[in-house]
Amino acid sequence: MNKYGYFDDAAREYVITQPDTPLPWINYLGCEEFFGIISNTGGGYCFDRDARLRRLTRYRYNNVPLDSNGRYLYVKDGDEIWNPGWKPSRAALDRYECRHGLGYTRITGAKNGLEVSVTYFVPIGEKLEVWDVRVRNLTGEKKSVSMWGFVEWCLWEAMDDMSNFQRNFSTGQVEVEQNAIFHVTEYRERRDHFAYFALFGAMASGFEVSRDRFVGVHDGLDRPRAVAAGKCTGAVTLGWAPVAAHQIDLALAPHEETRFHFLLGCAENPYKEKFEKPFVANKAPFRRVAGELARAHDVDAAFARLRAHWDGLLSIYQVEIDDPHVSRMVNVWNQYQCMTTLNMSRSASFYESGIGRGMGYRDSNQDLLGVVHLQPERSRQRLLDLAATQCSDGSCYHQYQPLTKKGNTAVGVGFNDDPLWLPLAVAAYLDETGDAGVLGEKIGYSDKDNLDGATLLDHLEISMAYTLRQRGPHGLPLIGHADWNDCLNLNCFSTTPGESFQLAGDVAGPKAQVAESVMIAGLFCAAAEQMAGIYTQLGDAGKAAKMLADRKAMQGVIDAAGWDGRWFLRAYDAAGRPIGSHTCDEGQIFIESQGWGVLGGIGLEDGRAVEALDSVKERLATSEGIILQQPAYSTYRLELGEITSYPPGYKENAGIFTHNNTWIQIAETIVGRGDRAFEYYMSVCPSAKEAQIDTFRCEPYVYNQMTAGRDAMTPGEGKNSWLTGTASWCFVAISQYILGIRPGPFGLVVDPCIPKAWKGFTVHRVFRGATYHISVRNPGGISKGIKQITVDGAPVESNVIPIQKQGAAVQVEVLMGAKP
Ligand code: BGC
Ligand code: NOJ
Repeated sequence: MNKYGYFDDAAREYVITQPDTPLPWINYLGCEEFFGIISNTGGGYCFDRDARLRRLTRYRYNNVPLDSNGRYLYVKDGDEIWNPGWKPSRAALDRYECRHGLGYTRITGAKNGLEVSVTYFVPIGEKLEVWDVRVRNLTGEKKSVSMWGFVEWCLWEAMDDMSNFQRNFSTGQVEVEQNAIFHVTEYRERRDHFAYFALFGAMASGFEVSRDRFVGVHDGLDRPRAVAAGKCTGAVTLGWAPVAAHQIDLALAPHEETRFHFLLGCAENPYKEKFEKPFVANKAPFRRVAGELARAHDVDAAFARLRAHWDGLLSIYQVEIDDPHVSRMVNVWNQYQCMTTLNMSRSASFYESGIGRGMGYRDSNQDLLGVVHLQPERSRQRLLDLAATQCSDGSCYHQYQPLTKKGNTAVGVGFNDDPLWLPLAVAAYLDETGDAGVLGEKIGYSDKDNLDGATLLDHLEISMAYTLRQRGPHGLPLIGHADWNDCLNLNCFSTTPGESFQLAGDVAGPKAQVAESVMIAGLFCAAAEQMAGIYTQLGDAGKAAKMLADRKAMQGVIDAAGWDGRWFLRAYDAAGRPIGSHTCDEGQIFIESQGWGVLGGIGLEDGRAVEALDSVKERLATSEGIILQQPAYSTYRLELGEITSYPPGYKENAGIFTHNNTWIQIAETIVGRGDRAFEYYMSVCPSAKEAQIDTFRCEPYVYNQMTAGRDAMTPGEGKNSWLTGTASWCFVAISQYILGIRPGPFGLVVDPCIPKAWKGFTVHRVFRGATYHISVRNPGGISKGIKQITVDGAPVESNVIPIQKQGAAVQVEVLMGAKP
C-alpha cells in the first residue's frame, strides 16, 4: 500500500488510485505476436510483432507532459471535457482507478454522476486490442453525453515516422465504412497489411480521420477541436496525420448502464488477394474478427479465455509462504514480467523506444531462464532463432529484429560473453523438458545463410570453442566490444561525441583487442559444467570429460590471474592493467566477477568464494541493493569507456544494477547463507519499495533495471522499469535457489537455502507432466540441508525427486536438518 495504489493479491491486480503517479506506471497487453504498452492513464501504443517495423499507433517518447498519446476516450458532458484515465485533459475526476492485471488493464473514471470504465486487452490468438467500454449513469436523472474513441496512426516504420516528415505528410491514406476506419497508408504499393479501429455495440454518429480536423493544428490532445465542438466533420482526407475517431452520442436513463467496444487491430492479406476492387483493400480478415467479436458476450468469452490462459500458466509454479512480498512476486508479478521480457527482450517499453535494440542475444538467452517452465514450445523456438544468428566461427550477432529474425549488421558481433549464454539457456530448457531432440535440430550458421545444416549441438560446441580460442595474454577470455557489462569498453578509446562506445575504435582486428574478462572466464566455467552434463546425458563420456578438463584449465587461469587477494578481479585493460583491483584508485571491486566466480565454482573449496562474497557485503551492499562497482569513477577514462561516462551512482557507474544482484543472491545460496541471500533478494524487491515510493518512483510490481546508488544525487531512485534480465534471474534466484526447487535431468532437485527464521513453505510445481506438492519444514531453524524427503510417504535416497508418471500428482514432504 502506498499513496498511489495497492496490490489486490486475490485478483492478481495492481490497483492505482491516483493518476499522477511518480512516473507512468505501465502494463503490457498481448501474449504472442500482437502487443500493446499501456500506462495507468491509457498512454502507449501497439504493434504487430515488431515495435519498429510494424507500429500501429503513434506515441511521442520524451514528450512534455510525459506519456501523451495513447488509447483515449473523451467524454463531453455539457461544457466539460474529461477522460476516464485522467489524461490527456487532466480534468479532475470524482473517482479514478486503474487496475493492471495479467494481460489487461481496466481504467475507471467518474465525474458528475457518470462513470466510464474501459478494459483493454488483446484476445488470445488475435492481432487486435479490445477496448471494452461500460458507461453508467450514477444519478437519478437522465443524462446525455457524447463520447469519442481516438487513436493516432503511426505510419508503420516508427523510426521513419518520427523523422521523414517531408514524405510522410503526403502518404497517409484511410478508408471509411460505417463504424469502421481503416488505415491503409502504403497498402496500395508495398505493404500487404492495414489497420482498423472499429466500433461495436453502438452506432457512431460521426467520425474523423485527420488529426488537423479532430485535434486542430493549434490545439492539444487535452481539448481536441471536434470534442469541444461536440461534432465531427466526417470528411475523408488524405495525407498529413491520419487518425481514427468515432463519436458516440448517448442518452442514458437514470441509473442506466450501457456497453460498447472498439477493436483496434491489424490485418494482412496474401499479395494476390489484396484488393476487393481496384485500390479498395480486401477487408475479409477484418470481417472475420468483426464477426467473431461483435457482441458483448464474445468480448466476455475472449476475456475469460485470457484469464484462464494466465491462471493455467501461473499454476505451474506456485508457492504458499508466510511472506506477502515473496508470495505476490513469485506467484504473479515476477513470472508475468518474465513473460514480458520473453516477448519484448529489450525492445519496447517507456525506456526502450522500440526503434533501437531489437532482440538481444545475451538478453533473450537469459530471459529464457525465467520462462522455460511456462512456455517450453516458445522457448524451444526462441533458442533456435537465437542460434540461427550465430556465425560459423562462434561469434554471435548481438541483436536481431523480431520481424526479420536476421542479425543486426550495424552492431554486428564481438560481444564476447554472447556465445556462452546459449549453453546455459539450452541446459535450462533440457532440464525442464528432457527434450534432447532439440540438440539435433538443423539451424545452420548466419554467415552461411543458415544452409549448412549445423545442429544446435554444433552451435553449443562452437560457443565453447570460441571462448577457448579468443584468449588474451593471461589466458583469460578476450572481452571484445564488451561482456555482460556493455559499458566496460576496454578496447575502444572514444573521443568523438555521438559515436558508439562499444563499436568505435574496436574494429582493428583481434590483435588490437587484448583486454580480458574475468567474468567471461567464470561464465565459461559455469557453461562448461552444463555442457558436461549435456554430454553425459547423451552418453558421450569422452566429451564430458574433455569439457570438465577445459573447465579445470580455465579455473587454473582464474586462480593464477583472476584473484585480487580478497575478491575476483574484473578484467585486464588493453594495456594489461587490472580492473577491479585494490590497486586501482577507483573501480576497485566489481559485482559481476564475484557473482560469476562463485557461480563458476571457483574458490568453493578454499574459502575464496566466501571471501569474495564478504567483500561484496562490505564494499558494495546497501539497503537498496548491491552496487555494481566501487568506488565510482569520477572522471571520464578513455581506456574504460562508457562506464565512466555516467555521473557517479548511475547505471553501470556505481548504480545498483538489479540484474547482477541476483547472481550474488544465488552465490550466497551456493555457500549456504540463506539469511544473506534473502536480505539481498528483499533489497531489490519492488513490492517492498512501496514504503519509499516517492523516492523509488518506478512501478512497485515489476523489477527495474537500475536504482541510483549511494554516490548519486538521488540515491534510491529507480529507472528503466520492466525490460531487464533481473526478471528471469530473480525468478531463478528465488524459486530455484532460495526456495530451492530446481529442475534437473533426473528429476526435481530440492535444495532450499532460506532464512533461519522460516518455518517452512509449500511449492506446487508442474514438471514434465506431473504435479508435485512439495511441503518443506524447517523445525531446526537452519538455512540449508535436507534430512529426509518422502514422496507419497516413501523415502527418497537423494534430494532429487524422481520424475513421476505423466498426469500423476504426488505429495512430497521435505524435512530440513542435518543428514542422518
Ligand atoms: C547502457 C547499457 C546498455 C548499452 C547498450 C548503454 O548506454 O548504459 O545499459 O546495455 O547502452 O545498449
Ligand atoms: C542492458 C543490456 O540490455 C544488457 O545486455 C547488459 O548486459 C546490461 N545493460 C548491462 O550493461
